[in-house]
Amino acid sequence: MVGFRTLKRVVGEIRRDVRAAQERDPAARGVGPAEVLAIWPGVHAILAHRVAHALSEAGVPILPRVIAGFSRAVTGIEIHPAARIGSGFFVDHGMGVVIGETAVIGNDVTLYQGVTLGGTGFATGKRHPTVEDNVTIGSGAKLLGPITIGHGSKIGANTVVIHDVPPNSTVVGNPGHPVRIDGKRPEGPDADWVHLPDPVADAIKGLASRIGALERALAERGGDPSAVGDGELLPEPELPQVRPARGPNPAGG
Ligand SMILES: CC(C)(COP(=O)(O)OP(=O)(O)OC[C@H]1O[C@@H](n2cnc3c(N)ncnc32)[C@H](O)[C@@H]1OP(=O)(O)O)[C@@H](O)C(=O)NCCC(=O)NCCS
Repeated sequence: MVGFRTLKRVVGEIRRDVRAAQERDPAARGVGPAEVLAIWPGVHAILAHRVAHALSEAGVPILPRVIAGFSRAVTGIEIHPAARIGSGFFVDHGMGVVIGETAVIGNDVTLYQGVTLGGTGFATGKRHPTVEDNVTIGSGAKLLGPITIGHGSKIGANTVVIHDVPPNSTVVGNPGHPVRIDGKRPEGPDADWVHLPDPVADAIKGLASRIGALERALAERGGDPSAVGDGELLPEPELPQVRPARGPNPAGG
């Protein structure tokens, strides 16, 4: 039989999940808890998950997956019953969210629509991200592999993250890279993600200047001038800029 303590804990968890929606969804400001409980898909998904997870932990077969599947059909949010999720969890809008089996999510985490906490392939064991407390993950972000997202971090919309993220940082882009750590732009030689070296263009440039040098040497030694057009040296090749360097330097230089 469900004890009084368990009941109290469950009611407390539901309250925190509903309050999370009220606090973090601007559209839910001024909306009462009963309305949020009845209408918000992100709240339905987490409540269904909490039941499915408890049953999964208790070793109940099939039913946890049935609940997770039903919740997915209704909300568009897919959470594996074994995923561990802390309190105050909120998925805004829902739809297209996937949370894998070995994902671990701390307290007060917010996800927007289209977020994936997935694996990178067919590996077994711990293969999904660990998200620490107070993290916000923007719409469409993909977090892949057994990486750790440090507490208080923000992941920008449509970011692809495949490496650990330090605490209190903002990570954007593909591949995801920190643009703020503790509110400051990261400094240092590896911090410039806009003006990246292009080894292929560098190699072509090197070969082109080598050919130019060989042509000059050949012409000086009386080689066949027709090969280079009546003794005239071929002009230096115009190489298109493969990666236009535009926009502000994220290294803050
Ligand atoms: C990343 C985010 C959380 C802002 O975090 P922040 O710490 O306040 O960061 P800032 O706004 O100061 O932006 C930092 C830099 O990242 C850039 N940036 C922000 N979000 C970005 C994104 N999604 N993709 C690429 N670059 C982004 C900014 O232009 C800025 O660039 P700069 O260093 O050249 O100035 C926010 O932009 C975001 O993406 N939120 C998700 C919201 C969402 O999904 N909403 C869906 C509602 S339906």
